[in-house]
Amino acid sequence: MNSTDTAQGQGNKTARPLSLSGHVGFDSLPHQLVNKSTCQGFCFNILCIGETGIGKSTLMNTLFNTNFENFESSHFEPNVKLSAKTYDLQEGNVRLKLTIVNTVGFGDQMNKQESYQHIVDYIDTQFESYLQEELKIKRSLHNYHDSRIHACLYFISPSGHSLKSLDLVTMKKLDSKVNIIPVIAKADTISKSELHKFKLKIMSELVSNGVQIYQFPTDDETVSSINSTMNGILPFAVVGSTEEVKIGNKMVKARQYPWGVVQVENENHCDFVKLREMLICVNMEDLREQTHSRHYELYRRCKLEEMGFRDTDPESKPVSLQETYESKRQEFQVELQRKEEEMRQSFVQRVKEKEMELKEKERELQTRFEQLKRMHQEEKAKLDEKRRMQEDEINIFSKKKAATELLQGQTFNTNSSNLKKDKDRKNAGFM
Ligand code: GTP
Ligand code: MG
Repeated sequence: MNSTDTAQGQGNKTARPLSLSGHVGFDSLPHQLVNKSTCQGFCFNILCIGETGIGKSTLMNTLFNTNFENFESSHFEPNVKLSAKTYDLQEGNVRLKLTIVNTVGFGDQMNKQESYQHIVDYIDTQFESYLQEELKIKRSLHNYHDSRIHACLYFISPSGHSLKSLDLVTMKKLDSKVNIIPVIAKADTISKSELHKFKLKIMSELVSNGVQIYQFPTDDETVSSINSTMNGILPFAVVGSTEEVKIGNKMVKARQYPWGVVQVENENHCDFVKLREMLICVNMEDLREQTHSRHYELYRRCKLEEMGFRDTDPESKPVSLQETYESKRQEFQVELQRKEEEMRQSFVQRVKEKEMELKEKERELQTRFEQLKRMHQEEKAKLDEKRRMQEDEINIFSKKKAATELLQGQTFNTNSSNLKKDKDRKNAGFM
């Protein structure tokens, strides 16, 4: 049995270490990876959540040392809108496709519940597009523009008091979907002692409400020390400015006040440099990886389980995709047949009901017809009776008329013979 067989048969734990007797060349693998990644370029997506005018755009400009296009938002947006802008940046030979997503109008509405829902939907939509690309038959993930959010900078208002309920609710809704890095915005407006207490208060509120913020990884020994120190300094208190002020003989980014100058990159003044180090220089790759292996994985798992896919059956036996597909198809067929039968039954029932309805209507019509027929016959009988009576009357009248005429005839004859007799008498008297 050779060493490959052993490794396959018993798993990697038992792989036998062998020493090479000469140079082979696979020690160049890390360089190959670096070259490939450099050629491809990198992509990083930041979501800035914070109320209108809290300093989101200024901080982004300061972080990336450039001037992104910024539009001042109004405080009267009816809904929270997410606006994403992508920029191509280059530093040395490394190209970065940076997307900055802004929450326009966050916290300005009366109904605060709507505020976080739009953000949750946006993050899910980006996961869904990636999942759809992955599920395609013809995938092109190598040139796919990955829009999943890698880091979410949550801007906390420098009240020195406590977190707002909107902050807690929003972070709670997002913590399983995105790497949240909380920052205290405009930290130059809060005193040193207040800031210390404020940071402690924020962290204890996050812990007591079970909000999981992003922890800088401590498993890689080259960065574990700095990362664990930084985990203890969260949330970073930041100041943003693109304005340059002369300090000594150097121009530095700062905010100038009548009483002094706040230097953005001075670690005694604020945590801006710490944020830049942690976000860009040390942990950008971990943020990208966590997004893929933790947040996206969770979304993908839930989505596929929702669709009925699973890795094992109820007896914990592995189930292949083919088996799941077949069982789903069968389930679907059964369901389809059940639905068809249900529809057929309901159709038969409805036909029966309609038939009964029609029969009832026919009976009603028949009754009505009989009633009308009876009424008609009664009416006809009455009319016949009337006609008979009128005919009798006519007969009587005709008889009376004939008798009268006869009588009149006789009277006339009598009168005319009497008249003749009178005339004859008169004529005889005169002569
Ligand atoms: P919208 O995009 O309109 O919501 O605003 P925004 O959150 O992007 O804020 P923006 O960066 O436009 O800054 C708003 C105002 O706050 C500007 O006048 C900035 O100069 C000021 N500002 C930004 N950052 C700081 C800061 O760290 N401290 C102080 N004091 N002011 C700041
Ligand atoms: Mg802005």
